Amino acid sequence: MKILAVDTSADDTSAAVVEGRRVLSHVEYSQISLHTQWGGIFPSVAKRAHQARIDWVINKAISKVETRHASSLQNIDAFAVTYGPGLAIALEVGINKIISLAQEHNKPVVGVNHMEGHLYSSFVQNSKGNPKREFAFPYLGLLISGGHTELILFTDHLKYEILGATLDDAAGESLDKAARMLGFGYPGGPIIEKLAHDVNNIDTYSFPRPMNKPDNINFSFSGLKTSFLYFTRKMSEEERVNKIAYLASSFQEAVFQSVARKVELAVLKTGAKRIVVGGGVSVNERLRYLVRHIAAKYDGSVYFPPYKYLNFDNAAMIGVAASFRAEKGMFVKDFAELDRKPRLSLKDSTI
Ligand code: KG4
Ligand code: ZN
Repeated sequence: MKILAVDTSADDTSAAVVEGRRVLSHVEYSQISLHTQWGGIFPSVAKRAHQARIDWVINKAISKVETRHASSLQNIDAFAVTYGPGLAIALEVGINKIISLAQEHNKPVVGVNHMEGHLYSSFVQNSKGNPKREFAFPYLGLLISGGHTELILFTDHLKYEILGATLDDAAGESLDKAARMLGFGYPGGPIIEKLAHDVNNIDTYSFPRPMNKPDNINFSFSGLKTSFLYFTRKMSEEERVNKIAYLASSFQEAVFQSVARKVELAVLKTGAKRIVVGGGVSVNERLRYLVRHIAAKYDGSVYFPPYKYLNFDNAAMIGVAASFRAEKGMFVKDFAELDRKPRLSLKDSTI
């Protein structure tokens, strides 16, 4: 079954055509350049950009398949769209588009939770079916992005239990905010990673590790952010500039060591030793190193999204998650019910 999937949950307008786990084409139109100056995603700017670009990404995704597999919109068997979580007015653009295509072509629609997409992103394959990676449940899922930081027990296809989540900022958001305090634009994560890498991820300042209690696998990053703010404010401009890489590195260490500790606690609590990681921050090499270290300590294994674009928001992962839903006949019954759900939780998407 060929599925055309769309994701407009945040600042990427993206479309993909998938068949099962295989991605036949994927197209992303990033809005990063439009949001850099705001230090984050500006909702009405995002909505207008999605509206202006959605037809282009869909047509491009379809035409890329056309050349290789003689396909067109008529040959698509079903449509899929992210309906939450995300920015309401951005989600709406993708939902409206998919409903109108489904009505025009008389095809079924699957509604997908964006975080389910990130959870499946480590199992997405290219058009040749690589990497193979067979499923072996249960997995411990670490979802780590600009909007979410969650630990999930992934017990079977489309079955999740939330073990812990952030009580305030997401890990990516905290990196974005720290970068802003150091004078950089959005997204801050890659800038912090580069600065930290330049000084070998040294932990010069030892900022407090958030939520350090052994019985708690929730996350909290706003206290760390505040202590970072006060610390940098006490420095002179010159000192801050001179020490910028050490500040970035120490902040990143505090965030990631806290994340790694929670992953370890979740392994101990659940016994799940196969870890899957997804979301924009999962591209970070330092995070990968620390999570690999935990997996090795418990004789487990760890899977990251196999291709770089799959770490970030993309429609391919939405299409693959939709394939597992379609297999179970989980199509939207009434289009009026396919409404944007900005705060949709994985709890609501479990079967
Ligand atoms: O999954 P994603 O593309 O969008 C959301 O659903 O949030 O994640 C975006 C987040 C941003 O906070 C960004 O700073 C972070 O991922 N990010 C990184 C890196 N690249 C992007 N964080 C750390 N290191 C990176 N290299
Ligand atoms: Zn995302």
